[in-house]
Amino acid sequence: MYEESSQLPLSQMTGILVVGSGAREHAIIWGMAKSSPGVPLYAAPGNAGIENLATCLPLYSAAEVAAWARDKGRLLVVVGPEAPLAEGIADLLREQGHVVVGPSRQAAQLESSKVFAKRFMDRYQIPTAAWQVFRDRKSLGDYVMQHDTFPLVLKQSRLAQGKGVVVAADREEALQTITEWSHDPAVFADGIIAEQCLTGKEVSVHILTNGQDYVWLPLAQDYKRLTPEPHSPNTGGMGAYAPVNWLSAKERQVIDEHILQPVVKAIAEENLLYRGILYVGLMMTPDGPKVLEFNVRLGDPETEVLIPIVDIPWVEWWWFLGQGRLLETQLPQPNRSAVAVVLASEGYPKQPMTGQSIHIEPIADSLIFHAATVREQGHLKAQGGRVLTVVGLGDNIERARKQSYAQVSTITFPHSQHRLDIAANIEAN
Ligand code: AMP
Ligand code: GLY
Repeated sequence: MYEESSQLPLSQMTGILVVGSGAREHAIIWGMAKSSPGVPLYAAPGNAGIENLATCLPLYSAAEVAAWARDKGRLLVVVGPEAPLAEGIADLLREQGHVVVGPSRQAAQLESSKVFAKRFMDRYQIPTAAWQVFRDRKSLGDYVMQHDTFPLVLKQSRLAQGKGVVVAADREEALQTITEWSHDPAVFADGIIAEQCLTGKEVSVHILTNGQDYVWLPLAQDYKRLTPEPHSPNTGGMGAYAPVNWLSAKERQVIDEHILQPVVKAIAEENLLYRGILYVGLMMTPDGPKVLEFNVRLGDPETEVLIPIVDIPWVEWWWFLGQGRLLETQLPQPNRSAVAVVLASEGYPKQPMTGQSIHIEPIADSLIFHAATVREQGHLKAQGGRVLTVVGLGDNIERARKQSYAQVSTITFPHSQHRLDIAANIEAN
């Protein structure tokens, strides 16, 4: 196993900082707070749920976080979202001597530039959908007019919070998408990918990796569309469950041999500094697994179902992973199941309503992770699109699902929306 020459012991840690403000970051902090780390916990910027576990800091960019962290000794920093990683927050904080879970800016391009990721996959023959990149409206428009196989997938190369992908059912939808995206000239400057539409079931594979070795987290599945209707808009994610039990041992082995091993080997060959999580979004096609996307961080809402079922000392794992060391070659099998239902504001993903008052009655075997929430004069208020992730726990998915929806029913949140089919009919979907 790959190890750096010198490892700093846990006693050197002066505090823990989690960067981000979503339900994912709430779950990451919850996982670490369980084991009383004995040092101060901070979140930047955090939310109204996180403030019960950590000190929330009003820091909104990589530069602001780095300026604050300068005199804080040796922090353990876990970076939740992709945007600060794309800005290079991991490099800035590592230069200051902090232990950071998150890839370098260069490696973060696996997510921040879909063109970079596609070229990377082509160089190492990693299975993915056939693709082409376009940098002006006319050439993409011409391509769509000549193309006769639909659906066609259009993707913005740059980061778009899960909303830069359209699976266009027909030519008209593809042309309409181009028109919509043309309002922002930067979209074309970064590139738009037109790619083959893959069919099959999707699965979210997360690994913890130091860029040489890796361990799998349990498999998860998320629900990206706003509603169950086939043409409903893509969102950041409306629900998830874990573990996924419908993949055979053989299919897992194929994923390992054809996708994960070559990807991690390629990261090492390209000298990308990677100490963190790689999330590989896969389509299980009739021709085997193919990569839909790479994310250089934990998924949201996948994290909210993964952290509660992975029973490891998270502080230690993150601390050593940040220094390039994996503590074991395998993680323990999950001993329970989890189902997450996202409560979003009306209008999400286009124009979410804000300001609604929320009231929660907690029940047993469930967890509520906050995303866009604030506390105003003691009252909990919605502040944006995805507001709460409600997680039910149980011995199996069905029990966890019941628990999750039972908890949802105790929450008063006017003008909210959520899906009713999360983790239902898993074998069939
Ligand atoms: P991405 O951000 O690239 O993962 O895309 C978001 C979602 O769009 C995926 O989770 C899929 O549901 C869908 N999608 C992306 N690429 C394809 C593709 N080539 N074929 C079919 N669906 C896709
Ligand atoms: N759940 C999808 C993502 O985090 O990108």
